[in-house]
Amino acid sequence: MFQGVAKRLTAASFTSVSRGDLFDFRHYCKKTATKLRVSEALSGAELGENVKVQGWVRSVRPQKTNTFLHVNDGSSLQSLQVVAGPQLNDPLLTFGSAVEVTGTMKKSPHQKQPVELEADQIHIVGECNPVDFPFKIKERHGLEYIRQFPHLRCRTNAFSSLLRIRSEATAAIHSYFKENGFTQIHTPIITSNDCEGAGELFQVEPSGPEFEEDGNFFSVPAFLTVSGQLHLEVMSGAFSRVYTFGPTFRAENSQSRRHLAEFFMVEAEISFTQSLEDLTKVMEDMFRSATEHVLAHCVEDVDLFHKHVTPGHRDTVDAMVSKRFPVISYSEAIDILNHSSEKFAFPTNWGCDLMTEHEKYLVKHCGNIPVFVTDYPYDLKPFYARDNQDHPKHTAAAVDLLVPGVGELCGGSLREERLDRLSTRLKEAGLEDAYSWYLDLRRFGSAPHGGFGLGFERYLQCILGVDNIKDVIPFPRFSHSCPL
Ligand code: 4AD
Repeated sequence: MFQGVAKRLTAASFTSVSRGDLFDFRHYCKKTATKLRVSEALSGAELGENVKVQGWVRSVRPQKTNTFLHVNDGSSLQSLQVVAGPQLNDPLLTFGSAVEVTGTMKKSPHQKQPVELEADQIHIVGECNPVDFPFKIKERHGLEYIRQFPHLRCRTNAFSSLLRIRSEATAAIHSYFKENGFTQIHTPIITSNDCEGAGELFQVEPSGPEFEEDGNFFSVPAFLTVSGQLHLEVMSGAFSRVYTFGPTFRAENSQSRRHLAEFFMVEAEISFTQSLEDLTKVMEDMFRSATEHVLAHCVEDVDLFHKHVTPGHRDTVDAMVSKRFPVISYSEAIDILNHSSEKFAFPTNWGCDLMTEHEKYLVKHCGNIPVFVTDYPYDLKPFYARDNQDHPKHTAAAVDLLVPGVGELCGGSLREERLDRLSTRLKEAGLEDAYSWYLDLRRFGSAPHGGFGLGFERYLQCILGVDNIKDVIPFPRFSHSCPL
């Protein structure tokens, strides 16, 4: 920094030097400690420098002369070792406390870490009583235990790793779409349509009494979105590739390990499609690209899960990214299930919905890698799915991606672009008036199109091997639970 400022000071006439430069220069002369994030300090680039690190104490080890602390600020799984001489000893320096440490970066004599911070000053910014704090030093708490503390669990190694992976996976998915020519659309959270028609809607009402007399705030019933698909379909009348990635809400009264009332969905819509293959290609590419990115950029965080939380899962993930995903039709899937010796709790006759137990069996049967199941019974799919016009087994051009450990990860379809068929189906369902705008999309410059949605939390469960969906979202919402 000094050289940069000094060069600008000599190269420019004094009068043209900015006030900012002068401030930097004086500031530097005072030898102010450089503020570093823990990950920057660990990189070793500031050896010998006077630095300041802020974070939370993850361990305290008092020894004969010095006290050794580990300080973490969320920037990496690794904490920075701080060496505090006897003059800095303070009983308030406890596990969980927030601290600001100033000192000199040194090469560490210990093999476990390349560098350490020799402290001149430790300021305890926030005390933490270790007796009352629910997490204990040196204990490896299980995901189920830490789930009881949604306001504190980000302070554990496992959950902070999860949050870093979640953030990196989000970035990887956005990158995939950007690199492949998709335009991001911010689809609304409040909507008046029930895309899936499954009746799992949260209705939006004003909290005060002021609208009671006049009826609804929006003059029509409004809901939290169950899917951004229909809004993406609007956009795919002008953009050939669009996507959205945001919160989605379903009032499913389910306590299952793969359902939430609020979850994040990645949805894409592609125009001028010719077959389901146009969709399965994007699903598979996106899955592979995001997963490879996460494995390459979150090595330690992913290892924590694969070594300590779900040992052995790494082999499954490696197989998922290296092998092509097989494709079977729904009818083939039913044949496979009917020929298996497994006793299923739910029936497996043609026309039935595939349950989690069936999905997991099919994944195992196909080599424990993701598998596409296509062409579901027409009557199982929402009004927008394209009619395959096949008989007697009548199907729609829909596709699900089933993955190890989770079952359904993605659901998608070609959309019914033919005005007459769509209009008949909406009429039969009594929805023609509500969806007149949707029929307009087919009236004016309609092109064959299709898309899919991927449950982001299920994706994280799949790559990390986490059994319960509540452990891969910062604040899980499910029936009878909305704690903060
Ligand atoms: O299969 P779904 O219902 O598809 C749609 O909503 C389509 N409109 C998407 C589209 O074509 N644009 O949901 C998509 C995915 C599921 O495969 C699943 O992974 C996830 O969303 N999902 C849930 N995840 C967590 N909790 C829930 N309650 C979920 N419901 C669906």
